[in-house]
Amino acid sequence: MVDAQFPRDAVTAFAEQFGLSPEFLVRAPGRINLIGEHTDYTGGLVLPMAIDRAVWIAARTTDMPAVEVYSAHFDQSLTYQLGKEPDDFSEPWAPYVVGVLALLERQGIKLHGCRLLIGGDLPPGAGLASSAALEVGVAKAVLHAIGQKRSPVGLATLCRQAEQEYAKSPCGIMDQMCCTSAQAGHALLIDCRNTVCQRIPLDLGHAVFVVIDSSVHHSIAGREYAARRRDCSVALDTLRVVDPSISSLRDVTEDRLPFFAEHLDDTLLPRVRHVVRENARVLGAVKALGTGDLDTLGRLMTESHESLRDDFRVSCEELDDLISIASGVDGVYGARLTGGGFGGCVIALSSGDAVHALGSAIHESYDGLYETDASVFAVRSTDAVNVIDTRA
Ligand code: GLA
Repeated sequence: MVDAQFPRDAVTAFAEQFGLSPEFLVRAPGRINLIGEHTDYTGGLVLPMAIDRAVWIAARTTDMPAVEVYSAHFDQSLTYQLGKEPDDFSEPWAPYVVGVLALLERQGIKLHGCRLLIGGDLPPGAGLASSAALEVGVAKAVLHAIGQKRSPVGLATLCRQAEQEYAKSPCGIMDQMCCTSAQAGHALLIDCRNTVCQRIPLDLGHAVFVVIDSSVHHSIAGREYAARRRDCSVALDTLRVVDPSISSLRDVTEDRLPFFAEHLDDTLLPRVRHVVRENARVLGAVKALGTGDLDTLGRLMTESHESLRDDFRVSCEELDDLISIASGVDGVYGARLTGGGFGGCVIALSSGDAVHALGSAIHESYDGLYETDASVFAVRSTDAVNVIDTRA
């Protein structure tokens, strides 16, 4: 599935910027995560879906020993000299691009000079995995330019490493895996312990997923995300002293929580409780999708949000307000924050008929409350990253 407007826009913008037509385009989708939040970096289960909002990259090879990149969104450029240690780039989007290029070179890959124009309709910093889409899109483009391919897991792993090392973001693997492995009409159940994926058919009938962007800036690289990761790792170390057979928080089950609870303090216990119950909710959501039980799916989404708010503490006032407004609309089955939290987006599972009422309710009750307005849009599931040759 191809977004109607963006391929054309990217081709035109490339020609304006570089004076020539691109040779190929890359479309790297963003994602919503239906359920399974803050579980990927503890070897847990996640259930994202690639969406029809994407980073688009228009590309053309050159004879120069450099990758020249222009970001249409930020109206900024950078030049990466091949074979040289990257300089300090100040643009906020640069580490994601430079990281991928530098890591590929470190792996001994001989990149070709090229020009890349980056555009698209995926809002950056909104919790819809724009960083992963940027990394995966750039990697796919420069590998395509030299006729190379990587497996979906290989590409995702490379991009996550680039983000961790160069953007200093201790992210998990969910976003990159979704971008490289998703399929239209499906959600992607990822077992983050071994990156094994299963495509779960999305038979939603009359219902749709609606994104409500709080417009509150989300920064995955932020202190709080890293702090939650640390909490989980300290909790694991503590539990391993009590039971050395545990290799990740995934091994902790609901029935053993009361036993482990005695060994965890007031901060760590709710973190572990969230992870344990969220993993179970993912399995519940997969089952509900299998039987078309939207009431159960919606309820699990709302429970997930409550757990992220109260136990994992990654929500914020704006997101909680959006959830209560959405939950009050007839025809909304459930709603939760999606992505890292601390701002960004909420998703709601809504009957198609209720989408208009949902948008109106959000604009009436949310806009004006804070210094920013929300945007509301329904999303469709799409395929993973792909390359489109434009020379034919
Ligand atoms: C961000 C990270 C993911 C994941 C989510 C929270 O999107 O990139 O790896 O940890 O937050 O579920």
